[in-house]
Amino acid sequence: MTARDPHRFVNELEKTAVERLIARLESRARDKVFTGLFDRYAAELIPGPGGKVLEVGCGTGATLRALVRREDFSGQAFGVDQSRDFITAARDFVAGEPFADRVSFAVGDAHQLDFADANFDVVFAHTLISHVTDPVSVLREMVRVLRPGGKLAIFDGDYASMTYALPDHDLGQRMDAALVKASFNNPRIMRDLPRMMPEFGLKLESAWGEAVVEIGKGSYFKSFAETYASYIVKAGFFPADVVERWLAAQQEAIEDGCFFASCTYYTYIARRA
Ligand SMILES: C[S@@+](CC[C@H](N)C(=O)[O-])C[C@H]1O[C@@H](n2cnc3c(N)ncnc32)[C@H](O)[C@@H]1O
Repeated sequence: MTARDPHRFVNELEKTAVERLIARLESRARDKVFTGLFDRYAAELIPGPGGKVLEVGCGTGATLRALVRREDFSGQAFGVDQSRDFITAARDFVAGEPFADRVSFAVGDAHQLDFADANFDVVFAHTLISHVTDPVSVLREMVRVLRPGGKLAIFDGDYASMTYALPDHDLGQRMDAALVKASFNNPRIMRDLPRMMPEFGLKLESAWGEAVVEIGKGSYFKSFAETYASYIVKAGFFPADVVERWLAAQQEAIEDGCFFASCTYYTYIARRA
């Protein structure tokens, strides 16, 4: 068995697993740890009046809804995702919102976007690039559909830095590595982007990183562990009983107020020449 990043291979998952991912994407979007990360760069994604924004890998549309809901947003928003189920959910979630006529969703592959060249003022990807098969092709496509002078934003975790405390340090380290390997195709891609961007005619305008840390209580990392730990077993990295004990130890730490987990996230804002 090998790792199958669930967000890359979502179209191969069973219905219940897809529903679980939909629930996780929506609950993550309500978690204040996560909304804080998006809010710190959302203003960068506002195009001029009537401008066009594309989110590549929009999932259930949670991030795009947060963007269009902003008072300073007056443009048109487009979301594309490979999962038909996610796109159906995205359309359902946006229906009835006062801004519904300014958002549209389509099924498509980030490696081969079905949009004309230079079509958008802003193109962004929020926790997509760590999952794709080939980040180079995805970056090329994002730049292709962006107009010259337009803005490109990429936000994602440096998942090689993700860690959960466990009294048995050796097992803890191996579980961290297994969880990351089972969940992400490209856990280190954010380290590569500053070097890759100029090759695609992108000038990095601003970039920052922030550590997401939960100490004592856990919500963001608790939900992450509960959603993705089963993929460690599916990948054959650890047997189910070991993973269950690890999950139980995390839950116990939360109950005892001594939970610890952290990961570093990065935001890159670049402009197409
Ligand atoms: C972690 S989710 C992020 C969803 C959304 N951006 C959010 O923050 O709620 C990653 C998304 O990338 C999508 N994805 C992964 N590989 C893709 C590809 N090659 N083309 C299009 N979407 C892809 C998945 O289907 C999933 O919806």
